[in-house]
Amino acid sequence: AYVVTEACIKCKYMDCVEVCPVDCFYEGETMVVINPNECIDCGVCEPECPAEAILPDTEGGLEKWMELNATYSAQWPNITIKGETPDDADSHKGEDGKFDKYFS
Ligand code: SF4
Ligand code: F3S
Repeated sequence: AYVVTEACIKCKYMDCVEVCPVDCFYEGETMVVINPNECIDCGVCEPECPAEAILPDTEGGLEKWMELNATYSAQWPNITIKGETPDDADSHKGEDGKFDKYFS
């Protein structure tokens, strides 16, 4: 499956949700996640993200994010249409430590 990582936090551009053929994105306050059981590994979302937040789980070291995507995709509502990107999204692009600072 593909995984949404820290770079999404506070950016939430949502270009990814528009292109997913199986609608497997779920929306939280500060980021979106992918349901790993529904993702068919098509890869079309990865290049759509301006924050480069989406990676394949075959990339090493993503355990924390794989777990977070699995956990929250079971709790958060499904999102299939791009919503309003936060006004300050660009200022949080590439910022370090966003999980500790902002995740909710
Ligand atoms: Fe959806 Fe394809 Fe991205 Fe998986 S890889 S989340 S199926 S767009
Ligand atoms: Fe997040 Fe990128 Fe989608 S910032 S909402 S993963 S387009």
